[in-house]
Amino acid sequence: AKIRRPIVAGNWKMNGNLSLVKQMQEALGQSQLENMDSVVCPPFTLLSGFDAELIKLGAQNLSVYPNGAHTGEISAAMLQDLGCQYVILGHSERRAEQFESNELVADKVQVALAAGLTPIVCVGEPLEVRQSGKVFDYVASQLDAVTQVISQQDLLNVVIAYEPIWAIGTGNTATPEQAQEVHAFIRVHLGKFCQDAAAKIRILYGGSVNAANAAQIFAQPDVDGGLIGGASLKVEDFLAICQAAN
Ligand code: G3P
Repeated sequence: AKIRRPIVAGNWKMNGNLSLVKQMQEALGQSQLENMDSVVCPPFTLLSGFDAELIKLGAQNLSVYPNGAHTGEISAAMLQDLGCQYVILGHSERRAEQFESNELVADKVQVALAAGLTPIVCVGEPLEVRQSGKVFDYVASQLDAVTQVISQQDLLNVVIAYEPIWAIGTGNTATPEQAQEVHAFIRVHLGKFCQDAAAKIRILYGGSVNAANAAQIFAQPDVDGGLIGGASLKVEDFLAICQAAN
C-alpha cells in the first residue's frame, strides 16, 4: 500500500448528462475501493444528480466572491450545500480560455480552504516550456503563487494535480519517469514551504491517463493518483483506473 492515500478524480469537463450520472453513481456505489478515494467532478448542473452521501463530489471551479450580486457565478457555500468536498482549481483550460492568472487561482484556493473544500490545484507546462527545459521554473511559479497566500497548516488540505498541457486530451501521456521527475520536484519544492505537509500532500498526475496506462503511472513513488479527463466519462474505464490506484 502507498504511504499517502491515493485519489482518482474524474474531471468531466463540459460533458455528461443525467443518464451518465445514474450509471456512474450505480457503478461507483457498488465498487469496493477501500484503499483509495474516488471523486467525480461533473459540471455544476449535474452535481445534485449524485447522492453526495455515497459519492465524493468535486466541482470544476468556484467563484472568488461570496454569495451576492455576481451573475453567472457559483460560490463555495453553494458547493458545500450540495455536499461537494473537492474543487478543481486552475485547470489549464480555465487558465487559457478564461484567462485565470496564478494570482486568481491562488485567491480561489484561499476561498476554497476557508469554506472547508479541498482544492485540487492544477499546474503544468505547455510544450514550448518543456522543449526549452524550463519545466521546474514554470511549475514552481504556479506553486509559489499559492503558497504565498496560504498557511503551512492549510497546505495539508490541498491536493496538487500535475497536468502537462501537451499530454491533455492528446493521447500523448507523460512517461511514468517524466511524471515522477516533476512530481518529485513538486514535493521537494513544497517542502521548502512546509516539510511536513509536502511529505503528506497528494500529487495527482493528469494527461491522457487510461485503463491501460494507469497502473504504471500510479506505481511511481511520488504519484498519488490521477486526474482523469476523457476516460472518466466511460464508467468501466474510470472504475478500472480507480482499481489501479486501490
Ligand atoms: O483534468 C483532467 C485532464 O485535463 C486530463 O484530460 O482527457 O487527457 O485525461 P485527459
